[in-house]
Amino acid sequence: MSTAPMPQFPTGFRWGVSTSAHQIEGATAVDGRGPSIWDTFARSPGRIGDGSTGEVACDHYHRHTEDVALLAGLGVSAYRFSIAWPRVQPTGTGPVNPAGLDFYDRLVDELLAAGVDPVATLYHWDLPQPLEDAGGWLHRDTAARFAEYADLTAARLGDRVRLWITLNEPFIHMSLGYGMGVHAPGRMMLFDAFPVAHHQLLGHGLAVAALRARTTSPVAIANNYSPVRVLGDRDADRAAGADRAAGAAYEALHNRLFTDPLLGRGYPELPGFDPSVVRPGDLDTIAAPIDVLGVNYYNPTGVRAAEEGSPLPFDLVPLDGYPRTAFDWPVAPDGLHELLGWLHDTYGDALPPIEITESGCAYDDAPDTDGQVADPDRVAYLDGHLRAVRAAIDDGVDVRGYFVWSLLDNWEWAEGFTKRFGLVHVDYATQRRTPKSSYTWLRDVIAASRPGSAR
Ligand code: FCB
Repeated sequence: MSTAPMPQFPTGFRWGVSTSAHQIEGATAVDGRGPSIWDTFARSPGRIGDGSTGEVACDHYHRHTEDVALLAGLGVSAYRFSIAWPRVQPTGTGPVNPAGLDFYDRLVDELLAAGVDPVATLYHWDLPQPLEDAGGWLHRDTAARFAEYADLTAARLGDRVRLWITLNEPFIHMSLGYGMGVHAPGRMMLFDAFPVAHHQLLGHGLAVAALRARTTSPVAIANNYSPVRVLGDRDADRAAGADRAAGAAYEALHNRLFTDPLLGRGYPELPGFDPSVVRPGDLDTIAAPIDVLGVNYYNPTGVRAAEEGSPLPFDLVPLDGYPRTAFDWPVAPDGLHELLGWLHDTYGDALPPIEITESGCAYDDAPDTDGQVADPDRVAYLDGHLRAVRAAIDDGVDVRGYFVWSLLDNWEWAEGFTKRFGLVHVDYATQRRTPKSSYTWLRDVIAASRPGSAR
């Protein structure tokens, strides 16, 4: 880790942390909430590594006041949380469940009272189960249902949420949920999952219009990006360009599919994708201007040409030479710098201001005999990634905020409770929250960055 002082960030830079509803709330059968695809998926045997479910998670639904106090103590200016669609509309259609929206109403008011800007994500993967039963995101109507839910939610919270995020990581939802079957809803369709991309993007565009009618707050989407590292040809027989072509195919899938159409360029060329679900006018709806591009970054991806007979046009290869997290993801702050430069160079004037809406790491953090949780690897991770953001700003990329994933250790999807991403340790048996040393470190970095601070 660098010993140089952390550089200053521009005045007004947004410091935040992120969570999502299903990963922290618990209370899945309380106050009229309906079932989501993640409830169903987690209950089916063998889907979740440790056999757990999100039924209790961090019990945030009942402990939100304590969690808001943790945010206030950290000194963040913003908190990114997600709203559970099945709390607002238990079956995904029809009238609002007032008790469900009441929860977010209280949370938003508590945040504002604590001086923390509420940043609300409308969809962080928890589709109401009845909508999945009707075809989920493979079904065009789900896009219209999503816009209706956005409208109902903004009618209640639109006066107080400071930044709206429509979808979280539609690429990961499509590829892991519908392509590879490792996330809910557990379908394995590979490239036949393309309608899921289009219908999520269409839902985003329709939701942007619904939000604009209800609020003057800025609107964003949070995409997952991974800079592509093309690794060398494996054998002399292979055409020299095969690996580069594989890299381009992966880049189109991971980095361009959910960005080119948003920024008015239509869909990129992608082998195996059938564009027949795109109807006239859809691309204009999708390209509705957004105010912020949310960038979720975890790691770069190594790619080379596919083995003969592979159903995919690339092979993914581990990247050597980096330290690794408990998820075995490479720790590569240089990848964040590279990615921000790539977005800037690729999209030019069409690129809105960026906020890093997720960045973080999992380690096997545990309390010591005094009950303290030291996580120096996370401190080093955050230090490196913040410096990467600062370097990109110096290069001229307009980055306006950085949200750490995550405030709390939480229920990490198919990994259950085995991956701890929090600045705050959670003992799942007692729900005791213990700020880790990274929490104290980040608190000091944020305090030092305030205008007028002594540094
Ligand atoms: C992102 C998700 C978030 C969390 C982190 C580790 O892909 O958006 O919910 O699982 O990864």
